[in-house]
Amino acid sequence: MNKLVFFSTMSLLVLACGGGDESKADPAVVAEAEKVWKEKCVTCHGDRGMGDGPGAAALNPKPRTFKDPRWQMQTKDERIAKVIVEGGKSVGLSEGMAPNPELADKPEVVAELVKKIRGFR
Ligand code: HEC
Repeated sequence: MNKLVFFSTMSLLVLACGGGDESKADPAVVAEAEKVWKEKCVTCHGDRGMGDGPGAAALNPKPRTFKDPRWQMQTKDERIAKVIVEGGKSVGLSEGMAPNPELADKPEVVAELVKKIRGFR
């Protein structure tokens, strides 16, 4: 029975992803990530990810620029995802980076945000 539930869930997932082509991002997920970025991140991180949003002025430490190639090279996707969901404090960074617990059950949206941050390099 469990196996059956597993397989039917999997086939639903495959259907939902448009035939199982994992390289193709779901446009709805991309749109949601874009919305989260604009509504919840740009105030501090700036629309180009340079850490120069209006909300950053009062922060200490300020968010780094995501364009820093050295940071891009040494940081891991898992760490970026963890900071987004669990906040800066979870990895020893400042509490100025608040957690976003509402994204905890939306790993696909978090993955798109990670992609977005990677895209600033
Ligand atoms: C209230 C301001 C604020 C908001 C809003 C905010 N951040 Fe941050 N964020 C920060 C600060 C400040 C840091 C740097 C913390 C440090 O260096 O100690 C940070 C750090 C980060 C880092 C880690 C960078 C590193 O040094 O490893 C990531 C990734 C990140 N933010 C992504 C996001 C995303 C995605 C959102 C939106 C969901 C977001 N942040 C919303 C202030 C904010």
